[in-house]
Amino acid sequence: MLDLIVRNARLPGTDDTVDIAVRGGKIADLQRSLEGQATEEIDAGGHLVTAPFVDSHFHMDSALTYGQPRVNESGTLLEGIALWGELKPTLTVDEIKARALHLCRWSIARGTLAIRSHVDTSDDRLLAVQALIDVREEIKPWLDLQLVAFPQDGFLRAPGARENLLRALDMGVDVVGGIPHFERTMADGAQSVRELCEIAAARGLMVDMHCDETDDPLSRHIETLTSETQRLGLGGRVAGSHLASMHSMDNYYVSKLLPLMAEAHMHAIANPLINITIQGRHDSYPKRRGMTRVPELMAAGINVAMGHDCVMDPWYSLGSHDMLDVAQMGLHVAQMTGVDEMHQVFDAVTKNPACIMDITGYGLDVGCNADMVILQCQDRVEAIRLRPARLFVIRRGRIIARTAANTPVVNLGSHDEAIFFTL
Ligand code: FE2
Repeated sequence: MLDLIVRNARLPGTDDTVDIAVRGGKIADLQRSLEGQATEEIDAGGHLVTAPFVDSHFHMDSALTYGQPRVNESGTLLEGIALWGELKPTLTVDEIKARALHLCRWSIARGTLAIRSHVDTSDDRLLAVQALIDVREEIKPWLDLQLVAFPQDGFLRAPGARENLLRALDMGVDVVGGIPHFERTMADGAQSVRELCEIAAARGLMVDMHCDETDDPLSRHIETLTSETQRLGLGGRVAGSHLASMHSMDNYYVSKLLPLMAEAHMHAIANPLINITIQGRHDSYPKRRGMTRVPELMAAGINVAMGHDCVMDPWYSLGSHDMLDVAQMGLHVAQMTGVDEMHQVFDAVTKNPACIMDITGYGLDVGCNADMVILQCQDRVEAIRLRPARLFVIRRGRIIARTAANTPVVNLGSHDEAIFFTL
């Protein structure tokens, strides 16, 4: 007896539908027409069934604080950091947990079942660290939450930052973060990258740094992170987040940097929603887009993900934590409109970030965890175009969220006609 059968599932990149059998929380079989019975059956009706969305760059400690204590009027990164500094002294563990758990419900409803969240370690009390460690445990049955120790106010710039980051790691934070472009000098930024990578190497941890979230074409912290990844043998365990300076860099220099990043097996994470709103703020016209060079990174063989980064916080006023919003914006900003490119963008919010987070059992092959999302669309391009209803969200073979189909009814004078925006 099986636990679940999902019938008539259209997997990404396939024309025919299959039935998916689940036993013991794993995918037990995939067949054109499956014999057998299960405790529960779902008819996917030929709709797209995908492995869950994954967000490899988020800030859960600041999410859903929009307007507290005021709104970021300039829209710049620096006003956002200042505003977060005003808000931090008022936070409590319970309040951070409540917001984070609320956000997780939004994520699950949208089919995102793994999130890497940076957590600010600049506050001596480490309230956000404690709160998100608690949330990581509480939400574990439904969502994988991975935490990055993020020295928001600078690792070398802020007093006590090193001790706080080490304390956060001792408490159980998973990944070492950093913010070299916020240190006082380029030399300090480079030194912070070196020291943070050494901490990760000594503890056997992954690294994920906010790296060059700036429009400065001469910033060189990506080069340093690449070189430290190589020097310390951290290949495959280091992600550079944002990498916005690459948008503005000299083309010759980028032609040297890309192969170095590929050689070091570094991952890259762009954050299109935030990069398009925060970068280029000091430009008149032409105004730079500020997102890193996504198609060029991919063409160089570098694993690239796209993250949501923020939802209704000091840096970003909008969002509902929908990774298809991220894909839609990323596709437009990167001008990745070819069919293969659109599929690459879909990968950037599914399997690429799963690889960065080193999630075991991810995918839709036999033996993988029975985690999947049924969307009200036919294929990956429609998913990005329509951002359709997530009809069912399944975790370890159990339905944990469902959304009614979005089917408008039109009456042009004769009779009601139910329509959907697919051909
Ligand atoms: Fe970020």
